[in-house]
Amino acid sequence: MPVRFSLPTRFFVVASVIFLAGQPGLAQQAETPAQRLGLIPLPREVKTSAGTYSLPQKISIYASSPEERNVATLLQGLLAPLGKTATLTTSRQAAQIRLVTAAGTGPTPEGYQLAVGTDGIQITAAGGAGLFYGAQTLLQLLPPRSAATTSVPYVRIADEPAFRWRGAMLDVCRHFFPVEFIKRYIDFLAAYKLNTFHWHLTDDQGWRIEIKKYPKLTQVSAFRKETLIGAQQTFKKPEDFKYDATPYGGFYTQEQIREVVAYAQKRYITIVPEIEMPGHSVAILAAYPELACKPGPYETWTMWGVNEDIVCPTEPTFRFFEDVLTEVSALFPGPYVHIGGDEAPKTRWKESAAVQDIMKREGITDVEKVQGWFNRRIEKFLASKGKKLIGWDEILEGGIPTSAAVMSWRGEKGGIEAAKAGHDVVMTPTTNLYIDYGQNPQPHSPNEPLMIGGYLPLDRIYNYNPLPKELTLEQQKHILGPQANMWTEYITTPQKVEYMLFPRLLAVSEVGWTPAARKSYAAFVPRMSQHFARLDAKKINYRVPEPLGLDSTGLAAPGEKAIFTLRSLVPGAQIRYTLDGKLPDETTELYTKPLAVPRNRQLTVRAVTIAPNGRKSAPAELLVK
Ligand code: ACM
Repeated sequence: MPVRFSLPTRFFVVASVIFLAGQPGLAQQAETPAQRLGLIPLPREVKTSAGTYSLPQKISIYASSPEERNVATLLQGLLAPLGKTATLTTSRQAAQIRLVTAAGTGPTPEGYQLAVGTDGIQITAAGGAGLFYGAQTLLQLLPPRSAATTSVPYVRIADEPAFRWRGAMLDVCRHFFPVEFIKRYIDFLAAYKLNTFHWHLTDDQGWRIEIKKYPKLTQVSAFRKETLIGAQQTFKKPEDFKYDATPYGGFYTQEQIREVVAYAQKRYITIVPEIEMPGHSVAILAAYPELACKPGPYETWTMWGVNEDIVCPTEPTFRFFEDVLTEVSALFPGPYVHIGGDEAPKTRWKESAAVQDIMKREGITDVEKVQGWFNRRIEKFLASKGKKLIGWDEILEGGIPTSAAVMSWRGEKGGIEAAKAGHDVVMTPTTNLYIDYGQNPQPHSPNEPLMIGGYLPLDRIYNYNPLPKELTLEQQKHILGPQANMWTEYITTPQKVEYMLFPRLLAVSEVGWTPAARKSYAAFVPRMSQHFARLDAKKINYRVPEPLGLDSTGLAAPGEKAIFTLRSLVPGAQIRYTLDGKLPDETTELYTKPLAVPRNRQLTVRAVTIAPNGRKSAPAELLVK
């Protein structure tokens, strides 16, 4: 089984800490200004003073330079749903909101200062990115929806991110997402100050980017004839697999790619395109079987996992990828191109006379090392296009120059080794940042949508520190930052992406922005709670969290009864419960005071959150005996 599907045991040792973590201390934490304002990610420095500035419905935004005007225009668009009509002005005096770039004002290009006082609102930064993040913070100081009056608290904020790379990946191959949703995903990242969108564009199950020189990639490789039904890992053998008999596919034209790139650039988000090689490439072989080590035919894959049919590392394959990367490099202005490099079984290479010849010619004795040789050629080619190579941590195995960056996914080991060797590193370990993993302590719970399994609760993401303590301070400088990965084997719709992404993206946001020493899960949770209304205003299909408090502390109560004090993370939500084994819903008992549950017989307490938007959480459950 491929690593990502084998669900290492460490998945299941993760306790349901969300129910226990950090309850004490919330009250004191809630007193600090930053807590009260509910800002995510938590800024460096927040100073409030008594009073509020009243922001009118018609606003002028001062902006003079092109960067200021870009941010002002975005802010104008973001203020419209709040009932504010904003115009741009070059008169400072007339403006309620002033965007000011001043060299040297931010400690980093992404840093900013935000001041709200009697004379209005001013955001100051060294450049556009800082202004944009200041604007995002300002939006979080405003009500989530249109309101008759808007009082903005007097505040002075000085802020900058902990990490240069604050990423989120989206796999558009296993399931395809239209341009409109890609833009929405970018908006999600921007709202929580992430700056890197890793676009996983090619895989066994579909090739998603138009390449002019290879039209069959979008005629053939972009489509599969059907898709596996159900969770693959729950079937014992391929004979048990069933397919939906429905053709599936899609791709982005180069014009659409340019549109998305421009959209992201305006929002200070760098796109890292991923073109997988040499593994995860059977969709290429479906269109161009001559790139395989053995004759086809091949088809775009209809199931999940790791496929042994990979491209052969021969000259036609180099020509193919060099042509593809030439077009990709021209489309994406960012410094990095991701070449995948993960999960490339050498079964076909071992059997291939052509690969034997390459090994003889190049003096390579281990077929595994052929991938390193392959990567190094690709790295040189990318460098000739002005691009840096980044790949999954397998690229370390065959040897790669330190100019290549490494994305550590099989835990932190690869990242640590790479940083020690002098590579730049992005940390995205499955254990903490694979947000396709489940959010329910029970894997494959019937109360969750179909998913890959695993358990990655909020606190486990939140408490992740991308700087491994195994590294010296000097080596830690190679850690570019964290990235959350959203693989989509089972994530079939935008709504389901949102369900997996929220509220976990808010935790990811602080992993990337807030220095570890300033992070506290206990303090994060009440700030996060203030965001559900914002997510509702944007019609985001977040996962409604289960009620808290149904845990062993209630069982410790002295006497005949267990006592459970429940609370919901969603302000204004109801908690409904049952003691009869049924699933709670709108018609079952409303929780109003601590629950006393008799212990003279065995029963299961189940409680759900019903959010103000009417949506219901999965149940929290506890067996009482
Ligand atoms: C990966 O999850 N295969 C990088």
